[in-house]
Amino acid sequence: MAQPYTIGIIGATGAVGRDLLELLVDRGFPAKEIRLFASARSKGKIISYKGVEYTVDETKEAIFDDLDLALFSAGSSLTKAMGWEAAKRGCVVIDNSSAFRQDERAPLIVPEINPEAAEQHSGLIANPNCSTIVALMGIYPLHREFGLKRMIASTYQAVSGAGQAGMEELVSQTKAWAAGEPLPRPDAFKHQIFDNIIPHVDVFQDSGYTKEEMKMALESRKIMSLPELRVSTTCVRVPVMRAHSVSLQAEFEKPVSVARAREVVAAFEGAELVDEPADNVYPMPMNYTRRIPCGVGRIRKDLVLDNGLALFVSGDQIWKGAALNAVQIAELLVARGWVN
Ligand code: A2P
Repeated sequence: MAQPYTIGIIGATGAVGRDLLELLVDRGFPAKEIRLFASARSKGKIISYKGVEYTVDETKEAIFDDLDLALFSAGSSLTKAMGWEAAKRGCVVIDNSSAFRQDERAPLIVPEINPEAAEQHSGLIANPNCSTIVALMGIYPLHREFGLKRMIASTYQAVSGAGQAGMEELVSQTKAWAAGEPLPRPDAFKHQIFDNIIPHVDVFQDSGYTKEEMKMALESRKIMSLPELRVSTTCVRVPVMRAHSVSLQAEFEKPVSVARAREVVAAFEGAELVDEPADNVYPMPMNYTRRIPCGVGRIRKDLVLDNGLALFVSGDQIWKGAALNAVQIAELLVARGWVN
């Protein structure tokens, strides 16, 4: 029996923060105490879950002295300001932001893919980008079998990727449309998201790709230890509440077979094969909301790439794309005795 830990959620009032609490409780994380933190604005706020009331406190450096683990989901600037300080104070940080994902000191972990990389942590472990995690739940088992050479990804990203504000914006625009009223002006997104899709997630770089699109390349390389991997991505925001989908075309070193691809996906922990096109069965975001596995289907031989496969993956952005993966990292550290 693992010793109980004092664990903090930093950004507890946000979309990911709230699910972090639910997942820690529901999955029976061995917590002596779960403490909630957010900005000074939220100090004193009460969050209840399963009959327990938690009082939100302000995030300050001193709080980390009393925490064994902290799950950060409050944006990059907060992690940049406090992440390593927390580690210095003896608290192991699992960070949802992109602040240190490319930092050599911070392992970038998907527990089903590279759990052993977490052993060498220096007090801060990075949780990968949500679209990247969802894509790799389909790609990684295929890579293990056939050897990934390069891939092309197009994402269909839910509004939850922009946090609570993103979800509220889709709801308020939809309600206004249904009531025949003028739609509220876009705020969380550059354009109206209701009845639209926006081929723009994160900031544009000189190359013409966005930062979000480059995360798919850079993070896939680090997670799968494939430093030369070539990836081209187009990230698109769609009016879906909280599950991301990714259309992928991948070229492999070895000849591929669809039957074998389906077998290895079905056997991969964290993936669920949903691939019966004759019966209209394939992954869809509405079926992967609040689901632990990511759905993988539409597996077929790609008509353009050599040794190529095309596939489609859906997974909950807030769960596997963020909170669930973070909690699974915490569970991994506890199970292996790597908390300190
Ligand atoms: P707060 O509610 O007090 O602003 P989301 O991604 O859903 O928008 O959530 C962001 C989370 O990050 C919220 O819990 C928010 O708390 C928290 N947060 C934002 N800025 C800070 C900060 N400077 N210190 C601590 N938490 C912060």
